Amino acid sequence: MLGRFPLPLFLVAGNHDEPGALVDAFGGTGLMGGAHQAYYVAELPGLTVVALDSSVPGEGGGRLGPTQLDWLDTVLARRPGIPAFVCLHHPPLPVGIPFLDGMRLADGDALAQVLLRHTNVARVLAGHVHRPVTAAYAHSTLAIAPSTHLQSGLALREGVPNYLPEPTSFLLHLLAGASWITHTVPVSQAAAPMGGY
Ligand SMILES: [Fe+2]
Repeated sequence: MLGRFPLPLFLVAGNHDEPGALVDAFGGTGLMGGAHQAYYVAELPGLTVVALDSSVPGEGGGRLGPTQLDWLDTVLARRPGIPAFVCLHHPPLPVGIPFLDGMRLADGDALAQVLLRHTNVARVLAGHVHRPVTAAYAHSTLAIAPSTHLQSGLALREGVPNYLPEPTSFLLHLLAGASWITHTVPVSQAAAPMGGY
């Protein structure tokens, strides 16, 4: 099914994934940039796509660790004039939803220190939250994608958010002139109960 997708597609490990199984199934293919590990880079003609593995076995929260951060620093320096997307599952900063902030990226500050050394990071792309969220981060823009399944409620107080049938969506990052523009694209018309807030 993935092979039939008409555009380049790159896989990023989430907290429910087993990176080893991901590599066993897709390592060496274009879906992982030809690499045999769960973090890798795809150097396309006008864009560098860096996929990081923030999964931690048995945990909902994420961590990159110094080895991966050092590798990221090297990769971003390799093509300084080409815009880069840095993709990882866990948001590297709190988004104001306590339940999810409790399982964000543990070393988000260390990631920011690496990114601040580079000027070509067009977007930092994450998931995990199941809602579209945008924030300034490390002199770049963090864009958290909505879910293609249920969305999480905007639970700004303590407690587990309800997972709501709000419209399933994806993000489209469009290069318009010299600017990257991020569109949220709904692909369903599900109506949500409002009680989850
Ligand atoms: Fe997740």
